[in-house]
Amino acid sequence: MKVLVIGSGGRESAIVWKLSKSEKVTGIYCAPGNAGTACYGENVPISESEIDKLIEFVRENEIDLTVVGPEKPLVDGIVDRFVSHGLTIFGPSQTAAMLEGSKVFAKQFMSEHDIPTAPYAVCVTREDVEAATTGKEFPYVIKVDGLAAGKGAIIIKNQDDLQQALVDIYEEKKFGAAGDSVIVEDFLEGEELSIFAITDGSDYVLLSAAQDHKRIFDGDKGPNTGGMGAYAPAPIGTPDVLRKVEERIIRPVLKGMQERGTPYSGVLYCGLMIHHGNPRVIEFNARFGDPETQVVIPLIKSDLADLLLSVAQGKLDASSFQISGKFAACIILASAGYPGSYEKGQEISGIERLFQSQRSHIFLAGTEFNGKKYLTNGGRVLGITVVSKSLKDAILSAYNYVNIIKFEGKQYRRDIGFRVLERLSHKKKIEVKW
Ligand code: AMP
Ligand code: GLY
Repeated sequence: MKVLVIGSGGRESAIVWKLSKSEKVTGIYCAPGNAGTACYGENVPISESEIDKLIEFVRENEIDLTVVGPEKPLVDGIVDRFVSHGLTIFGPSQTAAMLEGSKVFAKQFMSEHDIPTAPYAVCVTREDVEAATTGKEFPYVIKVDGLAAGKGAIIIKNQDDLQQALVDIYEEKKFGAAGDSVIVEDFLEGEELSIFAITDGSDYVLLSAAQDHKRIFDGDKGPNTGGMGAYAPAPIGTPDVLRKVEERIIRPVLKGMQERGTPYSGVLYCGLMIHHGNPRVIEFNARFGDPETQVVIPLIKSDLADLLLSVAQGKLDASSFQISGKFAACIILASAGYPGSYEKGQEISGIERLFQSQRSHIFLAGTEFNGKKYLTNGGRVLGITVVSKSLKDAILSAYNYVNIIKFEGKQYRRDIGFRVLERLSHKKKIEVKW
Protein backbone atom coordinates (compact mmCIF):
# COMPACT_ATOMS: atom_id res chain seq x y z
CA MET A 1 0.00 0.00 0.00
CA LYS A 2 1.27 3.48 -0.87
CA VAL A 3 0.26 6.26 1.53
CA LEU A 4 0.40 10.05 1.28
CA VAL A 5 0.26 12.05 4.51
CA ILE A 6 -0.60 15.75 4.25
CA GLY A 7 0.94 18.18 6.75
CA SER A 8 4.27 19.23 8.22
CA GLY A 9 4.15 19.05 12.01
CA GLY A 10 5.20 16.71 14.80
CA ARG A 11 1.80 15.06 14.36
CA GLU A 12 2.67 14.09 10.80
CA SER A 13 6.11 12.84 11.88
CA ALA A 14 4.41 10.52 14.38
CA ILE A 15 1.89 9.29 11.80
CA VAL A 16 4.57 8.68 9.17
CA TRP A 17 6.81 6.90 11.72
CA LYS A 18 3.99 4.54 12.68
CA LEU A 19 3.07 3.90 9.03
CA SER A 20 6.71 2.98 8.39
CA LYS A 21 6.29 0.10 10.88
CA SER A 22 3.53 -1.46 8.78
CA GLU A 23 4.53 -4.42 6.65
CA LYS A 24 1.73 -3.55 4.27
CA VAL A 25 3.06 -0.11 3.47
CA THR A 26 5.39 -0.08 0.47
CA GLY A 27 5.71 3.66 0.00
CA ILE A 28 5.22 6.70 2.23
CA TYR A 29 5.02 10.27 0.96
CA CYS A 30 4.46 13.43 2.94
CA ALA A 31 3.31 16.76 1.50
CA PRO A 32 5.02 19.04 2.27
CA GLY A 33 6.50 17.16 5.27
CA ASN A 34 9.49 18.17 7.39
CA ALA A 35 12.95 16.87 8.25
CA GLY A 36 11.34 14.17 10.43
CA THR A 37 8.90 12.80 7.86
CA ALA A 38 11.83 12.66 5.39
CA CYS A 39 13.48 10.05 7.66
CA TYR A 40 10.67 7.56 7.08
CA GLY A 41 9.33 8.52 3.68
CA GLU A 42 9.71 10.92 0.79
CA ASN A 43 8.73 14.55 1.13
CA VAL A 44 6.74 16.03 -1.74
CA PRO A 45 6.94 19.82 -2.26
CA ILE A 46 3.19 20.44 -2.43
CA SER A 47 1.50 22.52 0.25
CA GLU A 48 -1.62 21.40 2.11
CA SER A 49 -3.70 24.03 0.31
CA GLU A 50 -2.81 22.91 -3.24
CA ILE A 51 -5.60 20.38 -3.53
CA ASP A 52 -5.46 20.05 -7.35
CA LYS A 53 -1.75 19.31 -7.23
CA LEU A 54 -2.24 16.77 -4.44
CA ILE A 55 -4.90 14.98 -6.51
CA GLU A 56 -2.57 14.95 -9.52
CA PHE A 57 0.26 13.54 -7.38
CA VAL A 58 -1.95 10.80 -5.95
CA ARG A 59 -3.17 9.76 -9.39
CA GLU A 60 0.25 9.79 -11.02
CA ASN A 61 1.88 7.85 -8.20
CA GLU A 62 -1.01 5.45 -7.65
CA ILE A 63 -1.33 6.28 -3.96
CA ASP A 64 -3.79 3.94 -2.23
CA LEU A 65 -4.56 6.08 0.82
CA THR A 66 -4.22 9.77 1.67
CA VAL A 67 -4.25 10.84 5.33
CA VAL A 68 -4.98 14.48 6.12
CA GLY A 69 -3.18 15.95 9.17
CA PRO A 70 -4.28 19.60 9.54
CA GLU A 71 -7.78 21.07 9.74
CA LYS A 72 -7.57 23.72 7.03
CA PRO A 73 -7.71 21.39 4.00
CA LEU A 74 -10.50 19.38 5.68
CA VAL A 75 -12.60 22.49 6.22
CA ASP A 76 -11.79 23.54 2.63
CA GLY A 77 -13.27 20.26 1.35
CA ILE A 78 -10.22 18.19 0.40
CA VAL A 79 -12.03 14.94 1.24
CA ASP A 80 -14.98 15.71 -1.03
CA ARG A 81 -12.61 16.61 -3.87
CA PHE A 82 -10.62 13.38 -3.50
CA VAL A 83 -13.78 11.27 -3.26
CA SER A 84 -15.21 12.90 -6.40
CA HIS A 85 -12.08 11.66 -8.21
CA GLY A 86 -12.58 8.15 -6.83
CA LEU A 87 -9.59 8.46 -4.46
CA THR A 88 -9.40 6.95 -0.98
CA ILE A 89 -8.81 9.51 1.78
CA PHE A 90 -8.91 9.50 5.59
CA GLY A 91 -10.78 12.46 7.09
CA PRO A 92 -14.25 13.97 7.37
CA SER A 93 -16.13 15.59 4.49
CA GLN A 94 -16.36 19.38 4.35
CA THR A 95 -19.81 19.43 5.96
CA ALA A 96 -18.77 16.98 8.69
CA ALA A 97 -15.59 19.00 9.35
CA MET A 98 -17.88 21.93 10.26
CA LEU A 99 -17.74 20.50 13.77
CA GLU A 100 -14.31 22.15 13.88
CA GLY A 101 -14.75 24.74 11.13
CA SER A 102 -17.66 26.55 12.78
CA LYS A 103 -18.01 26.91 16.53
CA VAL A 104 -21.57 28.17 15.99
CA PHE A 105 -22.44 25.00 14.09
CA ALA A 106 -20.77 22.82 16.73
CA LYS A 107 -22.58 24.51 19.61
CA GLN A 108 -25.97 24.38 17.88
CA PHE A 109 -25.39 20.73 16.98
CA MET A 110 -24.54 19.98 20.63
CA SER A 111 -27.68 21.78 21.83
CA GLU A 112 -29.86 19.85 19.39
CA HIS A 113 -28.40 16.54 20.49
CA ASP A 114 -28.19 17.22 24.19
CA ILE A 115 -24.41 16.91 24.24
CA PRO A 116 -22.94 18.45 27.42
CA THR A 117 -21.11 21.74 26.78
CA ALA A 118 -20.92 25.24 28.28
CA PRO A 119 -24.08 27.40 28.02
CA TYR A 120 -23.59 29.97 25.24
CA ALA A 121 -24.99 32.78 23.13
CA VAL A 122 -24.38 33.30 19.42
CA CYS A 123 -23.51 36.88 18.48
CA VAL A 124 -23.23 38.49 15.06
CA THR A 125 -22.57 42.14 15.89
CA ARG A 126 -20.54 43.97 18.48
CA GLU A 127 -23.83 45.08 20.04
CA ASP A 128 -24.86 41.42 20.35
CA VAL A 129 -21.64 40.69 22.27
CA GLU A 130 -22.16 43.71 24.49
CA ALA A 131 -25.73 42.59 25.22
CA ALA A 132 -24.66 38.99 25.91
CA THR A 133 -21.90 40.07 28.27
CA THR A 134 -23.64 42.86 30.17
CA GLY A 135 -23.77 41.82 33.81
CA LYS A 136 -22.16 38.46 33.00
CA GLU A 137 -19.92 37.16 35.73
CA PHE A 138 -16.18 36.90 34.94
CA PRO A 139 -14.51 34.79 33.73
CA TYR A 140 -16.24 33.75 30.54
CA VAL A 141 -15.03 32.93 27.06
CA ILE A 142 -15.47 34.61 23.68
CA LYS A 143 -14.77 32.41 20.67
CA VAL A 144 -14.71 33.36 17.04
CA ASP A 145 -16.75 31.10 14.82
CA GLY A 146 -14.20 30.11 12.17
CA LEU A 147 -10.70 28.65 12.13
CA ALA A 148 -8.21 30.87 13.94
CA ALA A 149 -5.04 28.75 14.18
CA GLY A 150 -5.67 27.99 17.85
CA LYS A 151 -6.03 31.68 18.80
CA GLY A 152 -9.81 32.00 18.55
CA ALA A 153 -10.75 31.40 22.20
CA ILE A 154 -10.33 34.43 24.42
CA ILE A 155 -10.75 34.05 28.17
CA ILE A 156 -12.38 37.21 29.52
CA LYS A 157 -11.34 37.81 33.11
CA ASN A 158 -12.25 41.48 33.45
CA GLN A 159 -13.64 44.52 31.64
CA ASP A 160 -10.25 45.30 30.03
CA ASP A 161 -10.12 41.83 28.45
CA LEU A 162 -13.59 42.36 27.04
CA GLN A 163 -12.69 45.75 25.54
CA GLN A 164 -9.52 44.29 24.03
CA ALA A 165 -11.45 41.38 22.52
CA LEU A 166 -14.02 43.76 21.01
CA VAL A 167 -11.24 45.86 19.49
CA ASP A 168 -9.46 42.77 18.11
CA ILE A 169 -12.61 41.29 16.59
CA TYR A 170 -14.54 44.35 15.40
CA GLU A 171 -12.03 47.20 14.94
CA GLU A 172 -8.75 45.57 14.02
CA LYS A 173 -10.54 42.57 12.49
CA LYS A 174 -7.68 40.33 13.61
CA PHE A 175 -9.71 37.21 12.90
CA GLY A 176 -11.03 38.32 9.50
CA ALA A 177 -14.14 36.46 8.35
CA ALA A 178 -13.63 33.88 11.12
CA GLY A 179 -14.95 36.58 13.48
CA ASP A 180 -18.16 37.30 11.53
CA SER A 181 -20.00 35.39 14.23
CA VAL A 182 -18.82 34.75 17.76
CA ILE A 183 -19.86 32.65 20.72
CA VAL A 184 -19.98 33.95 24.26
CA GLU A 185 -19.85 30.99 26.60
CA ASP A 186 -19.55 30.20 30.27
CA PHE A 187 -16.13 29.36 31.66
CA LEU A 188 -15.86 25.68 32.53
CA GLU A 189 -13.99 24.65 35.66
CA GLY A 190 -12.11 21.38 35.71
CA GLU A 191 -9.29 19.55 34.01
CA GLU A 192 -8.86 19.19 30.26
CA LEU A 193 -8.72 15.85 28.47
CA SER A 194 -8.33 15.00 24.79
CA ILE A 195 -10.16 11.95 23.48
CA PHE A 196 -9.72 10.76 19.91
CA ALA A 197 -12.35 8.51 18.36
CA ILE A 198 -11.39 6.99 15.03
CA THR A 199 -14.62 6.38 13.21
CA ASP A 200 -16.00 5.34 9.85
CA GLY A 201 -19.25 7.13 10.63
CA SER A 202 -20.98 4.35 12.55
CA ASP A 203 -18.36 2.23 14.29
CA TYR A 204 -15.46 3.74 16.26
CA VAL A 205 -12.41 2.96 18.38
CA LEU A 206 -10.93 5.16 21.09
CA LEU A 207 -7.26 5.98 21.36
CA SER A 208 -5.69 6.43 24.81
CA ALA A 209 -7.06 9.43 26.70
CA ALA A 210 -4.41 12.15 26.54
CA GLN A 211 -3.69 15.34 28.41
CA ASP A 212 -2.07 18.27 26.66
CA HIS A 213 -0.38 21.29 28.29
CA LYS A 214 -1.45 24.31 26.28
CA ARG A 215 0.20 27.22 28.06
CA ILE A 216 3.80 28.14 27.35
CA PHE A 217 5.06 28.35 30.95
CA ASP A 218 5.17 25.97 33.90
CA GLY A 219 2.14 25.96 36.14
CA ASP A 220 -0.17 26.66 33.16
CA LYS A 221 0.99 30.27 32.96
CA GLY A 222 1.45 32.52 29.95
CA PRO A 223 -0.23 32.52 26.56
CA ASN A 224 -1.77 29.50 24.84
CA THR A 225 0.39 27.54 22.42
CA GLY A 226 -0.35 24.65 20.08
CA GLY A 227 0.60 22.39 23.01
CA MET A 228 3.86 21.98 24.94
CA GLY A 229 3.68 18.35 25.98
CA ALA A 230 1.30 15.50 26.62
CA TYR A 231 0.95 12.16 28.30
CA ALA A 232 -1.40 9.20 27.92
CA PRO A 233 -3.36 7.41 29.16
CA ALA A 234 -4.34 10.19 31.54
CA PRO A 235 -5.68 8.79 34.82
CA ILE A 236 -8.40 11.46 34.79
CA GLY A 237 -9.92 9.48 31.91
CA THR A 238 -11.24 6.83 34.29
CA PRO A 239 -13.40 4.00 32.93
CA ASP A 240 -16.44 5.87 34.24
CA VAL A 241 -15.43 9.13 32.53
CA LEU A 242 -14.75 7.28 29.27
CA ARG A 243 -18.11 5.53 29.45
CA LYS A 244 -19.81 8.92 29.85
CA VAL A 245 -17.78 10.35 26.96
CA GLU A 246 -18.94 7.51 24.73
CA GLU A 247 -22.57 7.59 25.85
CA ARG A 248 -23.10 11.33 26.09
CA ILE A 249 -20.74 12.66 23.43
CA ILE A 250 -19.30 10.28 20.85
CA ARG A 251 -22.35 8.16 20.09
CA PRO A 252 -24.73 11.15 19.96
CA VAL A 253 -22.31 12.94 17.59
CA LEU A 254 -22.08 9.98 15.23
CA LYS A 255 -25.84 9.40 15.31
CA GLY A 256 -26.63 13.10 14.89
CA MET A 257 -24.22 13.48 11.98
CA GLN A 258 -25.73 10.40 10.30
CA GLU A 259 -29.23 11.79 10.76
CA ARG A 260 -28.19 15.07 9.10
CA GLY A 261 -26.98 13.07 6.13
CA THR A 262 -23.39 14.15 6.86
CA PRO A 263 -21.83 11.09 8.51
CA TYR A 264 -18.59 11.84 10.32
CA SER A 265 -15.60 9.77 9.23
CA GLY A 266 -11.99 10.24 10.34
CA VAL A 267 -10.76 11.30 13.77
CA LEU A 268 -13.22 13.01 16.06
CA TYR A 269 -11.08 14.91 18.55
CA CYS A 270 -13.11 15.73 21.63
CA GLY A 271 -11.52 18.54 23.65
CA LEU A 272 -13.16 18.05 27.03
CA MET A 273 -13.35 19.61 30.45
CA ILE A 274 -13.75 17.05 33.21
CA HIS A 275 -15.37 18.35 36.37
CA HIS A 276 -16.29 16.03 39.24
CA GLY A 277 -16.11 13.11 36.83
CA ASN A 278 -18.44 14.65 34.27
CA PRO A 279 -17.19 15.49 30.77
CA ARG A 280 -18.27 18.59 28.87
CA VAL A 281 -17.16 19.54 25.39
CA ILE A 282 -14.89 22.58 25.02
CA GLU A 283 -14.44 21.99 21.31
CA PHE A 284 -14.41 19.39 18.58
CA ASN A 285 -11.57 19.09 16.13
CA ALA A 286 -11.75 17.19 12.86
CA ARG A 287 -8.16 15.94 13.03
CA PHE A 288 -5.52 14.43 15.29
CA GLY A 289 -4.28 16.80 18.01
CA ASP A 290 -0.66 17.78 18.36
CA PRO A 291 1.23 16.95 20.60
CA GLU A 292 -1.34 14.35 21.76
CA THR A 293 -0.71 12.35 18.57
CA GLN A 294 2.92 12.01 19.63
CA VAL A 295 1.78 9.99 22.66
CA VAL A 296 -1.34 8.19 21.43
CA ILE A 297 0.17 6.87 18.18
CA PRO A 298 3.13 5.09 19.86
CA LEU A 299 0.57 3.38 22.12
CA ILE A 300 -1.34 1.83 19.20
CA LYS A 301 -0.52 -1.85 18.80
CA SER A 302 -2.56 -2.39 15.64
CA ASP A 303 -1.35 -1.60 12.14
CA LEU A 304 -2.09 2.10 11.57
CA ALA A 305 -2.28 1.80 7.78
CA ASP A 306 -4.92 -0.94 8.08
CA LEU A 307 -6.89 1.12 10.58
CA LEU A 308 -6.90 4.33 8.55
CA LEU A 309 -7.61 2.53 5.29
CA SER A 310 -10.54 0.62 6.79
CA VAL A 311 -12.01 3.91 8.03
CA ALA A 312 -11.54 5.59 4.66
CA GLN A 313 -13.33 2.62 3.05
CA GLY A 314 -16.16 2.70 5.60
CA LYS A 315 -15.25 -0.78 6.87
CA LEU A 316 -13.78 -0.26 10.34
CA ASP A 317 -13.55 -3.49 12.34
CA ALA A 318 -13.44 -2.13 15.90
CA SER A 319 -13.08 -5.60 17.43
CA SER A 320 -9.60 -6.13 15.98
CA PHE A 321 -8.17 -2.84 17.28
CA GLN A 322 -5.56 -3.05 20.02
CA ILE A 323 -3.67 -0.52 22.10
CA SER A 324 -0.76 -1.31 24.40
CA GLY A 325 -1.20 -1.23 28.16
CA LYS A 326 1.76 1.15 28.49
CA PHE A 327 2.12 4.88 29.09
CA ALA A 328 3.68 7.58 26.95
CA ALA A 329 4.92 11.08 27.64
CA CYS A 330 6.03 13.73 25.16
CA ILE A 331 7.97 16.93 25.85
CA ILE A 332 7.94 19.63 23.19
CA LEU A 333 11.06 21.71 22.62
CA ALA A 334 10.26 25.13 21.19
CA SER A 335 12.12 28.14 19.81
CA ALA A 336 12.78 31.16 22.05
CA GLY A 337 9.90 33.60 21.72
CA TYR A 338 7.25 31.01 20.77
CA PRO A 339 4.21 31.37 20.72
CA GLY A 340 5.11 34.94 19.76
CA SER A 341 7.70 35.72 17.11
CA TYR A 342 10.86 33.62 17.04
CA GLU A 343 13.99 33.22 14.97
CA LYS A 344 14.60 30.31 12.66
CA GLY A 345 17.86 28.73 11.53
CA GLN A 346 19.42 27.84 14.92
CA GLU A 347 21.63 24.77 14.66
CA ILE A 348 20.29 21.75 16.56
CA SER A 349 22.61 19.07 17.93
CA GLY A 350 21.78 15.66 19.35
CA ILE A 351 19.08 14.64 16.87
CA GLU A 352 21.08 11.70 15.43
CA ARG A 353 21.74 10.42 18.94
CA LEU A 354 18.04 10.35 19.70
CA PHE A 355 17.24 8.68 16.38
CA GLN A 356 19.58 5.87 17.47
CA SER A 357 18.03 5.55 20.91
CA GLN A 358 16.04 2.38 21.46
CA ARG A 359 13.87 3.92 24.16
CA SER A 360 12.85 7.33 22.91
CA HIS A 361 11.07 8.54 19.83
CA ILE A 362 11.94 11.89 18.36
CA PHE A 363 9.26 13.53 16.25
CA LEU A 364 10.60 16.51 14.33
CA ALA A 365 8.25 19.42 13.66
CA GLY A 366 9.68 22.89 12.90
CA THR A 367 13.04 21.42 11.90
CA GLU A 368 14.82 21.45 8.57
CA PHE A 369 17.86 19.51 7.38
CA ASN A 370 20.11 21.52 5.05
CA GLY A 371 22.10 18.50 3.87
CA LYS A 372 24.64 18.82 6.67
CA LYS A 373 22.91 20.06 9.78
CA TYR A 374 19.52 20.20 11.44
CA LEU A 375 18.21 23.75 11.90
CA THR A 376 15.20 25.17 13.71
CA ASN A 377 12.46 26.12 11.28
CA GLY A 378 9.36 26.76 13.39
CA GLY A 379 7.92 27.51 16.81
CA ARG A 380 7.51 23.97 18.03
CA VAL A 381 10.77 22.41 16.92
CA LEU A 382 10.41 18.76 17.95
CA GLY A 383 8.87 16.36 20.42
CA ILE A 384 10.55 13.65 22.48
CA THR A 385 8.37 10.74 23.47
CA VAL A 386 9.12 7.83 25.78
CA VAL A 387 6.85 4.80 26.18
CA SER A 388 7.12 2.91 29.44
CA LYS A 389 5.31 0.55 31.75
CA SER A 390 4.79 3.39 34.23
CA LEU A 391 3.65 6.93 33.68
CA LYS A 392 6.27 8.24 36.07
CA ASP A 393 9.07 6.52 34.21
CA ALA A 394 7.74 7.70 30.84
CA ILE A 395 7.71 11.32 32.03
CA LEU A 396 11.07 11.30 33.85
CA SER A 397 12.81 9.41 31.03
CA ALA A 398 11.49 11.82 28.42
CA TYR A 399 13.05 14.63 30.46
CA ASN A 400 16.40 12.80 30.49
CA TYR A 401 16.45 12.78 26.71
CA VAL A 402 15.55 16.49 26.55
CA ASN A 403 19.07 17.33 27.69
CA ILE A 404 20.60 15.59 24.67
CA ILE A 405 19.02 18.05 22.26
CA LYS A 406 20.67 21.44 22.20
CA PHE A 407 19.89 24.64 20.33
CA GLU A 408 20.12 28.33 21.11
CA GLY A 409 17.04 29.54 22.99
CA LYS A 410 15.56 26.06 23.54
CA GLN A 411 12.48 26.38 25.72
CA TYR A 412 10.29 23.67 27.18
CA ARG A 413 8.01 23.14 30.12
CA ARG A 414 9.54 21.41 33.09
CA ASP A 415 6.26 20.22 34.55
CA ILE A 416 4.66 18.06 31.88
CA GLY A 417 2.61 15.44 33.72
CA PHE A 418 3.80 16.63 37.11
CA ARG A 419 0.36 17.47 38.42
CA VAL A 420 -0.76 13.91 37.78
CA LEU A 421 2.44 12.49 39.29
CA GLU A 422 1.82 14.49 42.44
CA ARG A 423 -1.72 13.22 42.64
CA LEU A 424 -0.57 9.66 42.08
CA SER A 425 2.08 9.83 44.81
CA HIS A 426 -0.55 11.24 47.15
CA LYS A 427 -2.93 8.44 46.21
CA LYS A 428 -0.22 5.85 46.75
CA LYS A 429 0.35 7.18 50.27
CA ILE A 430 -3.30 6.60 51.06
CA GLU A 431 -3.10 3.25 49.27
CA VAL A 432 -5.55 3.88 46.48
CA LYS A 433 -4.66 1.87 43.41
CA TRP A 434 -5.60 2.92 39.88
P1 AMP B 1 -10.50 26.20 21.91
O1 AMP B 1 -9.95 27.09 20.85
O2 AMP B 1 -11.98 26.15 21.96
O3 AMP B 1 -9.81 24.88 21.94
O4 AMP B 1 -9.99 26.79 23.30
C1 AMP B 1 -8.63 26.91 23.60
C2 AMP B 1 -8.42 26.74 25.08
O5 AMP B 1 -9.13 27.73 25.80
C3 AMP B 1 -8.96 25.41 25.62
O6 AMP B 1 -8.05 24.36 25.46
C4 AMP B 1 -9.18 25.76 27.06
O7 AMP B 1 -7.95 25.74 27.77
C5 AMP B 1 -9.65 27.17 26.99
N1 AMP B 1 -11.13 27.22 26.94
C6 AMP B 1 -11.90 27.29 25.84
N2 AMP B 1 -13.21 27.31 26.17
C7 AMP B 1 -13.27 27.24 27.51
C8 AMP B 1 -14.33 27.23 28.46
N3 AMP B 1 -15.62 27.33 28.09
N4 AMP B 1 -14.01 27.15 29.76
C9 AMP B 1 -12.73 27.09 30.17
N5 AMP B 1 -11.68 27.11 29.33
C10 AMP B 1 -11.94 27.18 28.01
N1 GLY C 1 -3.12 20.01 21.11
C1 GLY C 1 -4.17 20.86 20.71
C2 GLY C 1 -4.58 20.76 19.32
O1 GLY C 1 -4.06 19.97 18.56
O2 GLY C 1 -5.48 21.49 18.92
